Amino acid sequence: MLKIRYKNENSYFQYTHQVKIPAHIIDRIKTSALIEEVISDFLPLQKKGQNLWACCPFHDEKSPSFSVAPSKGIFKCFGCGKAGDSITFVMEHEGVSYPEAIRYLADKYHIEIPEGSREEQEEAQAEEKQRESLLIALKFGHDYFQNKLWESDEGKSIGLSYFKERGFHERTIKRFELGYSLDDWHALETQAIAQKYSPDILEEAGLIIKKEGKQYDRFRGRVMFPIHNLSGRVIGFGARTLRKDDKPKYLNSPESLVYEKSKVLYGLFQAKQEIRKQDESLMVEGYTDVISLAQEGIENVVASSGTSLTEGQIKLLKRFSTNITVIYDGDNAGLKAAMRGIDLILAEGMDVRAIALPEGQDPDSQVRKMGGEAFKAYIQREKKDFLRFKTEIYLKETANDPIAKAKAIGEIVRSIIKIPDAIKRMMFFKQCSEMLAVDEQTLVSEGNKILNRERLEEQRRNKRTQQAEKNKDISPPPADGIPLPDISAMPEELLDDIEGLPPITITEKIPLTEDKKESKSISKTSLELYEQELMRLMIRYGYIAIEAEYYVAQYILEEMQVMPTNPHLATIYKTFVEAVQRGERPPSPEQLLHTIDADAQHTASNLLLDRHVISPNWEKRYDIYTPHESDILNKVSYRNLLHLKLRILQKLEKENLEHIRKAESDTAALELLKTHQQLKIAIKEIAELLEIVIYNKN
Ligand code: GTP
Ligand code: MN
Repeated sequence: MLKIRYKNENSYFQYTHQVKIPAHIIDRIKTSALIEEVISDFLPLQKKGQNLWACCPFHDEKSPSFSVAPSKGIFKCFGCGKAGDSITFVMEHEGVSYPEAIRYLADKYHIEIPEGSREEQEEAQAEEKQRESLLIALKFGHDYFQNKLWESDEGKSIGLSYFKERGFHERTIKRFELGYSLDDWHALETQAIAQKYSPDILEEAGLIIKKEGKQYDRFRGRVMFPIHNLSGRVIGFGARTLRKDDKPKYLNSPESLVYEKSKVLYGLFQAKQEIRKQDESLMVEGYTDVISLAQEGIENVVASSGTSLTEGQIKLLKRFSTNITVIYDGDNAGLKAAMRGIDLILAEGMDVRAIALPEGQDPDSQVRKMGGEAFKAYIQREKKDFLRFKTEIYLKETANDPIAKAKAIGEIVRSIIKIPDAIKRMMFFKQCSEMLAVDEQTLVSEGNKILNRERLEEQRRNKRTQQAEKNKDISPPPADGIPLPDISAMPEELLDDIEGLPPITITEKIPLTEDKKESKSISKTSLELYEQELMRLMIRYGYIAIEAEYYVAQYILEEMQVMPTNPHLATIYKTFVEAVQRGERPPSPEQLLHTIDADAQHTASNLLLDRHVISPNWEKRYDIYTPHESDILNKVSYRNLLHLKLRILQKLEKENLEHIRKAESDTAALELLKTHQQLKIAIKEIAELLEIVIYNKN
């Protein structure tokens, strides 16, 4: 896959540009950038119909469901749901920021970006020059350390043999570009100065130290772990001593213009594609954990490098996946402090899971003991939702101590309220109330108290910028299925024991709110297609009697309960309703066509042209019978009605979820959640019924 490469002196992806890009330039870039051109620099696109298609770069797949709509300037993947425009594509695909993507596109389309005032311009240029100098010096150091590891006697006998003793293969050592610094005060310095590197730059890059008129190498007799930025350039080093008593064990490069520790995660450059593919990142503590796991085939791993996580690091990870699993070393010291950092991740709306390794183990030692496959299975089996993890740890300690328990509740609630999604939040209140044996309402109130306090404080601070809404309107590919309701998305417990309110059953009437805007935004969705299919059945077979004085149309109308969203279909629908209300036999297709207006006629005759409206795929995918359907009409209607109901319920569910998200208080959300649970049950029942029908087919 082609990657955007560092380009001459002017890299888009290394620098945080100080100068603001004017809005009119951004507009120009947006109108000039043709989405198919931009994307085809990264993916082979194939034309099919109006759109172009490729295998999605954001998730693992074999057949293309990633579509590009040149007319709309957007892309959308029907597999994983990722969507956006040229700019978001570059951002997501390359893991770069908005201004970086803008600069890339500006360069591609030869659009000049005015760099503000002359002063600002000069300042920005000077800074870029400085960054570039640092990167070049770091590259020198990087090459130097690798060369010493592989070529020098000391490097080979001490550094390389250390790595090999630790079980790192040569391939792994090369992949992570590990190195060795000679045990000498001036080895690097001498060579660098001989090659005309300025001492100031070497110092700022953290390669040498200047002190009291003397200068000497920072790293001596250590194995070197280079730290890369997202585009693969070395921005700093972690260096491990090989002497038992030497402190610190790990010596790091100092911060510089190119190395901001709070915005870097070790291993992300090597792991980013895999994180995206697996839609999950594993977070470990150490350099060696990342490397050992990668060597054993677990490549979606990054290290926090022992420090507590920062918001910048999380935002970085979030570009690749919102699922993160934190693997804690098996020593309980510091676990609570480390867990506190996770609230930040929760607040970013990420799905966090956690696992603590057995006493005395870290991922590096554990994976060497178990092997990659077993380790992977172990993590997948044992990882827990973070809040459950945290609750369990606190529970262990507070067994018979009410005061400690009250404190623990505070800690846990504090984490829960960080979750931005109300539905997830509700789930966790419920889950933790069970685990802690505390009334759910109590937890919610406790949360409200904390929230109110925090909100007051926050009002003083600036509001964070919100992420732009992603677009939704490329029509779905013919070869993709309607997702069935994801019952598994909610924990089992939530589906159980709903008190007070009767569950919605499929025989109950389910009103569909007539919200024209909403139906527009979901135009051509599964719901409409099912409506259309049912209307086709009604037009074609509505007049046929199922039993004496009971016609197909009546059956469909009784079951359907709702007016089709399409206005012409609605006209037809009304015609049938009126006929049934008058106690007449419903009209045959011919009769119908004579009684409705021209537009409705047009729609009806199109539907009657049998196979034109429904592709063969449609039939297979959506499980709708078409051949000889009058023979099996009862069943056909039934199945389609079930499908229709499913869509309606799903739509209601979606609306309800929206309401939960917008609920004014968690107390109100709790009420709406009950409705949500009922809808889930109804959806589950229908899904089961559909399965039974499918199952009984033969
Ligand atoms: P090995 O002992 O080589 O297996 O490394 P480790 O990764 O198991 O080390 P440890 O668990 O002690 O530390 C985990 C991570 O914390 C390391 O990879 C470093 O990133 C960081 N770390 C540990 N010790 C130090 C230190 O003395 N200074 C700094 N700056 N970081 C450290
Ligand atoms: Mn270790």
